[in-house]
Amino acid sequence: MRKLSLKLGIIFFITLFCIETFMMFFLHASLTNSRVEEELASLQARGNSHRTILEQNFNKETLAHVVLMESEETTDVVVTDYKGTILASSQPHPEIKDMIKNLNGIVPYEGRILQDNWQEVQAIATISPIQTQQTTIGYVFMFQNTDSIHALMKRLNKHFLIVGIVSGLVTIAVIIVLSRKLAEPLIQMKEATLKMSKGDFTVTLSPNGKDELGDLSNAIQLLSNELNHLRQERKEFLSSIAHELRTPITFIKGYTDILYKRDLTGHDRQKYLAIILEETNRLSRLIKDLFDLAKMDENSFVIEKQSLSLHAFFISIEAKLSPAFQEKDIHFVVCCEEGLTLWADEARLEQIMINLLNNALTYCRPGDTTTVNVKEINGVLTIVIRDTGKGIPKKDLPFIFERFYRVEKSRSRALGGAGLGLAIVKELVQAHGGEVMVRSEKNKGTIFELSFKGVEADENHFMH
Ligand SMILES: Nc1ncnc2c1ncn2[C@@H]1O[C@H](COP(=O)(O)OP(=O)(O)OP(=O)(O)O)[C@@H](O)[C@H]1O
Ligand SMILES: [Mg+2]
Repeated sequence: MRKLSLKLGIIFFITLFCIETFMMFFLHASLTNSRVEEELASLQARGNSHRTILEQNFNKETLAHVVLMESEETTDVVVTDYKGTILASSQPHPEIKDMIKNLNGIVPYEGRILQDNWQEVQAIATISPIQTQQTTIGYVFMFQNTDSIHALMKRLNKHFLIVGIVSGLVTIAVIIVLSRKLAEPLIQMKEATLKMSKGDFTVTLSPNGKDELGDLSNAIQLLSNELNHLRQERKEFLSSIAHELRTPITFIKGYTDILYKRDLTGHDRQKYLAIILEETNRLSRLIKDLFDLAKMDENSFVIEKQSLSLHAFFISIEAKLSPAFQEKDIHFVVCCEEGLTLWADEARLEQIMINLLNNALTYCRPGDTTTVNVKEINGVLTIVIRDTGKGIPKKDLPFIFERFYRVEKSRSRALGGAGLGLAIVKELVQAHGGEVMVRSEKNKGTIFELSFKGVEADENHFMH
């Protein structure tokens, strides 16, 4: 489970460990060097100061005085003449002979370091020449035991070890916390996607900030919500289809049974056959509508556009639908200016108009009026279908273009319909590059407004 955090942790640790070790070594070496350099510089300065005194009075008394000064200190002095013969010393240092032998040339007046490799020798050493009138008459050798430096290094090493252990532990603790914190959302997301792959879309991921991980987690959350919504929609869609199919089939089956079993009069027979025919028509219309919508979803629905003369088109629509409106005693008025054209598929535009006008017909009472107005204003063609029918309640308005949505949930036979008409209208209008808007007030009427911007020049238009 924690493989990722372990990997991250190990990488972090190795990196930090290398950086820390390098820094510690660097610090340790520079501390040691500067400490030894300090010791050497002060030893050299001390030797030089003895040398100055001796240059003024190079006699036994001064020598004794210099030796006396050093006998109390951790440093030692040895004074020789220019040949290397020891004149005075606070401690015997037999290695002086070798040192004199290895001098190799003139010692500069400010002196020289003779031994600084404190790890190997017992004492570090400097030399300062004693000169009178530019001639070297002797040397002041200064020695300092390296024990104090060794002790200092021991202390320093101990401190470094403590600091190293503490910082190592703190680093490990911080890395564990950090890598877990980094890996936690990833593990959460992995579990969420696994859950989704098994068909459970009820995923809730905790918000993970505004970084890339947060974005990924939001995207997964969005995906799961969307899938959940789709599944819900599919469920509703299927149950609506089942319901819509069941009702006419129940009718057809019932009346066929009656016709089959009972001895009926010719009049009754006609009546029942008419019902069966009506239900069969309803079924075939429903199936055609569903088929159309399925094709639109698949983008395999072809719109064959052509320059359509709207005046002639609307005269034919009026002629087709007037009898139905007359029969229900509804005034039906169509107004379309002459000379208007639209780049459209005639059959599909007719389907749009028939769906909208069928609704007006269904939801108007006798004495109501339905008007169709076609105008072109500023290059925008608008078709307005206005009725004074029962209207649509405000709360239902946002949903009426959804598939199977109906205001009358009872799905009564009188106001029958599957609730697919407006969904098809919307798809078809959009396929023509247009828009559909609705305004309605309960018990006052409804206005559908279709608007088409410009005239498109392409011949065939596939729906997207
Ligand atoms: N002109 C209108 N006046 C009042 N209500 C309307 C009007 N047009 C649509 N509606 C309401 O919107 C709902 C959806 O309309 P739609 O045309 O999609 O379905 P339908 O007419 O019920 O069924 P179908 O058109 O599939 O036969 C209708 O059920 C109706 O309640
Ligand atoms: Mg309808």
